[in-house]
Amino acid sequence: MQRIVVLNPKGGSGKTTIAINLASYLATRRYTPVLMDFDPQGSTLRWVRKRRPAQAPIHAIAAFEKDSRTTRAFQLRVPDVATHVIVDTPAALDPRQLSDMTRDADKILVPVLPSDIDIHACSRCIRDLLLVAKISRDENRIGVIANRIRRNTLTYQSLIRFLHTLGIPIVATIRDSQNYVRGAEIGIGVHEMKSYVAQEDVAQWVPLVEWLAGSPGEAQAPPGGSSEGAGTAAAAGQPPAAGEPASAGEPVAPAEPEAPAGPLGPGDSSQALSGEAAATAAAAGF
Ligand SMILES: Nc1ncnc2c1ncn2[C@@H]1O[C@H](COP(=O)(O)OP(=O)(O)O)[C@@H](O)[C@H]1O
Ligand SMILES: [Mg+2]
Repeated sequence: MQRIVVLNPKGGSGKTTIAINLASYLATRRYTPVLMDFDPQGSTLRWVRKRRPAQAPIHAIAAFEKDSRTTRAFQLRVPDVATHVIVDTPAALDPRQLSDMTRDADKILVPVLPSDIDIHACSRCIRDLLLVAKISRDENRIGVIANRIRRNTLTYQSLIRFLHTLGIPIVATIRDSQNYVRGAEIGIGVHEMKSYVAQEDVAQWVPLVEWLAGSPGEAQAPPGGSSEGAGTAAAAGQPPAAGEPASAGEPVAPAEPEAPAGPLGPGDSSQALSGEAAATAAAAGF
């Protein structure tokens, strides 16, 4: 069973969107994902409740509820059939909670928006993951998702440069798309939409599922080295054959460790990083 934690203490960065769409992807590939919702807003849970019986089943656990009638361990118990646990976390996690949340995580996804405020929040989050939660960059457990991207904007370029400096891979670049908004409303993910509607969105998930399939500690090409559309040919993972359940721990897609993700153009590295990003990079020993 793989445990994937989606976090970024900044609200609105796309944690829930990533968590539910990843669950939708896995469920449509006949895996058995479980969504664990630690956010008292319960958005993930609400999304699961909107799903229809005919849709691929996704189990959800209301981890934010404190139920005094049962033990915490019982409340957070994951069904044996689960192949993946996707943990959706609340905004405003403090550094200590960050350690607790990430201790058992196989992969940590940090969605970040291309705005100055979000880049600064992300820099703090990554710093805390490296320094407080003591996650080594070499473990290849942390991946950033550049979310709601509009290419050719200055903030996008600045996001790319910032992540490049930290040496943390961008494992997906997700465009700003109404499909995510609509899917959240009706209990589906982009992988469950008609292909003529969501083809472009679905293609952007390929590098992400490939990165998730790699084992921790695998060598990873540094950000900036990959070309546009990397990994597209491996097409969103090979589903297990119909009626053949995926075994626990099985990769979600053929491993392509050298493909950290999509369009990481080198950008103009001559431009200076913001002071905070540079300080974070220095503090983290890069
Ligand atoms: N790639 C995207 N394109 C369009 N809207 C998005 C995208 N990602 C997130 N959103 C929207 O942004 C809002 C905040 O996203 P959400 O996933 O709830 O963030 P968080 O869980 O980090 O607070 C939601 O309304 C969501 O539908
Ligand atoms: Mg959320």
